[in-house]
Amino acid sequence: MADYGKMKAEFEANGQDRVFAHWDRLTREERDELLADCEKVDFAWLAARWNEFTNGAAGIDLSSLQPAPIVELPRNQAEGGKDRQAIAVGEELLRAGKAAAFLVAGGQGTRLGFPGPKGCYPLGPVSDKTLFAWHAEQIRARAARYGKVIPWYIMTSRDNDAETRRYFTENGHLGLDPADVFFFMQDMAPSLDFEGRLMLASPSRLAMNPNGHGGSLRGLCSSGALADMRARGIEYIGFFQVDNPLVTIADPRFLGWHVLGGAEMSSKVLEKNAPGEKIGVACVLNGKNAVVEYSDLDEATMNARDATGRLKFWAGSIAIHIGDVSFVERVGGEALLPWHQARKKVAYFDGEKTVKPDKENAVKFETFVFDAIPFAERSVNLEVRREHEFAPVKNAVGVDSAESSRLLLSNYFGEWLAAAGVDVPGGAGRYGEAITIEISPLYSLDAGELASKVRPGGFLPGRSLLLG
Ligand code: UD1
Repeated sequence: MADYGKMKAEFEANGQDRVFAHWDRLTREERDELLADCEKVDFAWLAARWNEFTNGAAGIDLSSLQPAPIVELPRNQAEGGKDRQAIAVGEELLRAGKAAAFLVAGGQGTRLGFPGPKGCYPLGPVSDKTLFAWHAEQIRARAARYGKVIPWYIMTSRDNDAETRRYFTENGHLGLDPADVFFFMQDMAPSLDFEGRLMLASPSRLAMNPNGHGGSLRGLCSSGALADMRARGIEYIGFFQVDNPLVTIADPRFLGWHVLGGAEMSSKVLEKNAPGEKIGVACVLNGKNAVVEYSDLDEATMNARDATGRLKFWAGSIAIHIGDVSFVERVGGEALLPWHQARKKVAYFDGEKTVKPDKENAVKFETFVFDAIPFAERSVNLEVRREHEFAPVKNAVGVDSAESSRLLLSNYFGEWLAAAGVDVPGGAGRYGEAITIEISPLYSLDAGELASKVRPGGFLPGRSLLLG
């Protein structure tokens, strides 16, 4: 354990000794806790971030921004043929056990306001199944289809690691073999108040936030996850976020296009539904493939249109990527990614109690995993159908909420049933308004599998249907 005297002197020299203001009142355990947090503070890193914040240097120069090349949805027979070829390549790789699933679940989920890891959110439209369970069932079903284990790597953070692991243990690892579920924690980054000072979250803890999902690159390397992948013969890492139950995990089509394109890191994109939709855009920045976050775009770029009237930057990234294991090995251990900053309300200890501020009082620093794309030799952006692949749960109510996500799931499953010849009420695109439908991935992974299990000509008698 670090020496208090030395630590205090170092913090004093950097103008940060305020964090020890309550030292005399701390118990022995609390002192150890505070010293452990302080040991992780890197003053050169802190100075660099503060410098960027005060000089506004973290902004992106958009002057060279161009739309990215996109593999669009097949529009004709020939394109359909290429798509089928890609699917066949991807299926072969899944049969050979070359793909892993990688979930980033270290975020704080503040917008949803759910107490606990976001993956424990009960999302199933009929069953109330959690997001974690939803993902686990899909992994089990796809592994069964291709006859090979799809190991699942899950990144947590200090804020939710213990709870996440407990949830998996208490729920029998959701039917997966515990040996095939690998947890690791990302690092934390200290927040600063608007004077550049470190803050206390409690008498014995610094205010810190998970360092962004870009932290997964280093985490994959340092945790032994990459070594585990190598030992299993894994070559491709399928990255996804916890909030999207419509994600296709270990998607053969995506895998096939990624490999046929000779890519090192690839992204799924879809047509933005409005210029200001809060998703990143796939583009070419300074001559390199990239995803630029919505918050880094200006109004003119967001609204720019091409000669046909389509949004110039129409391709929104839904944060689903594939990265080669060798690519993550090459870039992962290095501090390559730029730091993004966000003004946030950060709870702090004022000497007596924890205060939850009602306006922004601090800046948080994060890196984003998609900032690794410009380091890839090649990158494929694959277009997907929004209604088939994107139903995020981000907010408590309204846009991108649990309610909107459940509706999208019901609509999609309604589409499967209708395609199988079942009479579904509501009509195309509106099934969810008439009936709540849930189909477990273990029952059917896709419309084709469902069609082989239901009899055409049937009808749905009730207000809800649960299959699986
Ligand atoms: C994200 C993407 C955005 C994309 C959109 C699609 C970022 C910065 N933006 O937005 O480009 O279009 O999703 O839905 O990601 N996480 C960690 N550790 C962290 C921070 C986040 O594991 O330190 C995880 C979260 O648990 C979650 C995911 O990353 O699974 C997304 O984080 P969030 O902050 O909610 O991103 P969005 O703003 O929703």
